[in-house]
Amino acid sequence: MKPIPVDAASVDNDAKWAGLTRQQLESYWMPFSGNRGFRRDPRLIVSAEGCYYRSADGRQILDSLSGLWCASFGHGRPEIAEAIARSARELDYSPAFQHAHPGAVLLADRVRQLTPDGLDHVFFTNSGSESVDTALKMARAYWRLKGRPEKTRLIGRVRGYHGVNAGGTSVGGIVANRKHFGSLVEADHLSATLLPENRFSRGVPEYGAHLAEQLEELVNLHDASNIAAVIVEPMSGSAGVIVPPKGYLQRLRELCTRHDILLIFDEVLTGFGRIGAPFGATLFDVTPDIMTLAKNLTNGAAPMGAVVASGEIHDTFMNTDGPGYLPEFPHGYTYSAHPLACAAGLAAMEIFERERMAERAADMAPYFEQQVHGLKGLPHVADIRNLGMAAAIQMEPYPGEPARRPWEVAMKCWERGMYVRFAGDTLQLGPPFIIEREQVDTMCNLLADAITETA
Ligand SMILES: Cc1ncc(COP(=O)(O)O)c(C=O)c1O
Repeated sequence: MKPIPVDAASVDNDAKWAGLTRQQLESYWMPFSGNRGFRRDPRLIVSAEGCYYRSADGRQILDSLSGLWCASFGHGRPEIAEAIARSARELDYSPAFQHAHPGAVLLADRVRQLTPDGLDHVFFTNSGSESVDTALKMARAYWRLKGRPEKTRLIGRVRGYHGVNAGGTSVGGIVANRKHFGSLVEADHLSATLLPENRFSRGVPEYGAHLAEQLEELVNLHDASNIAAVIVEPMSGSAGVIVPPKGYLQRLRELCTRHDILLIFDEVLTGFGRIGAPFGATLFDVTPDIMTLAKNLTNGAAPMGAVVASGEIHDTFMNTDGPGYLPEFPHGYTYSAHPLACAAGLAAMEIFERERMAERAADMAPYFEQQVHGLKGLPHVADIRNLGMAAAIQMEPYPGEPARRPWEVAMKCWERGMYVRFAGDTLQLGPPFIIEREQVDTMCNLLADAITETA
C-alpha cells in the first residue's frame, strides 16, 4: 500500500469534505472535470430526491439539469429503486451473448412500442457513447451485407456531441473534445445550425433549413457510393441547445433517402420527453433509419443505452446465409441488457407512460421559455436558446477564455443552492419535468443574481 503523507491524511474540518481526505480525493480522477480546482474546493453530493440534491454540507441544491439530462422524471423514484433491488436479489447477472432474460425482451418490446413506427428492433448498450459507436458500426456492416462495402464514410455535424468513444468523438463536432486525440475514425461534418440571425429565438428558429443542402456538397465531394450514414442530434444538447431550423431535418431526411445514405438520430439526450415530445423524431415528424437512446431510458438510475433499428436494417442482418448459431452482428458488451438496468428501464418506462412525462414537459415548456428568456439583457448574455425543457444561455467570452464566465456563474449558483451545468461558452438548463413554476422562478432568479454579480 502506498504511504499516506501526514498532511494529506488530515481531514478538512469543513463539512463539505464529507470526512474525506485530500489523499482520497486525489485517488479519484474525475471525468470531464477540472480535477485540480475540484480538489481544492470539492462539490460533493450525498443524496437526491425530486428536483433536489443534498450536498455533503447539508444544503438543499436545486438540480437544474436532471443530473446530466438523465434523471428527467425526478430523482429517487421508489418504483425504480425497488425494481433494481428486486432484480439484484433474483437475477444479479445473466449472460447477454447467446442467452437472454425476460426483462431484456420486455424492455426491448416496450421501447419498440414507444419509438416511432418503423423503428422496431432494439439493441442494448450501457451508455450513450456505446449506443453511438454501435449505431455507426451497424450502419457500416449493413452496407457490407448489402454488397456495398465501400459505403463506409460517416458524416456528423460541427458542434454535434455523440459521446466520447472513437466513433462518437470522430463524428462529433466540439473541438475541445476532439483536439487531443489525433485521427480516430474518418468522418466529415456538416456545418452547425447556429446562425447569428437566430440569436434569442424562442423554440425552433425559422431560418436556416438551407444548411441541410451541405450534404449535397459532401456527396459531390465523396460520392454517395462511399457514404454510409449521417448522424445528427435532432437538437444539439451538449454544445448548448442548438435547435434545428424549421425544415432542416426534413430536408436532411430527403437528401439521405435520395442518395441511399442512412440517417441516424442521436436521441440520447432528446429521447423520452426532453423537448416536449417523446422523441425529436416525433416532434419534427422525421423518422431516421437508426435511433440511439440512453439517459432517460432508466431515468439515470442505471447505466443503459439502446440502438433502435429499422426493420430493413434488422432484416438485412437476419437474412444472411450461414448457421443460426453464428452472430449476425458480432458486437455487444458484457453488460448489454444487464438485468438491473432492464429492471430500472421497465420501471422508468412505466413512469414515462403513466405520468405522461412528455406531455408534462410540453405543458411546462412555455413558462420555462418565458422565464429563461427573461434573462436577456443581463450583462454578457450573448444568446438564449430553448426547446421543450432544454435551454442554454450563451455568455460573451473573456478574451481567450470562453469557458470562464459560465464557470464563474455556475460556482456562484452552487454557493447559493443550485447546480448548473457549464460547458464551453454556455450555461445549460434541463430540469426534471416534474419541476413546478415556483422552482422555475427560483432557478431563473438565482441565475440572474449570479450573472449580475459575476459581471
Ligand atoms: C446526444 C448525445 N449522444 C451521446 C452522449 C453520450 O452519452 P454517455 O455520456 O452516456 O456516453 C450524450 C451525452 O450527453 C449525448 O447528449
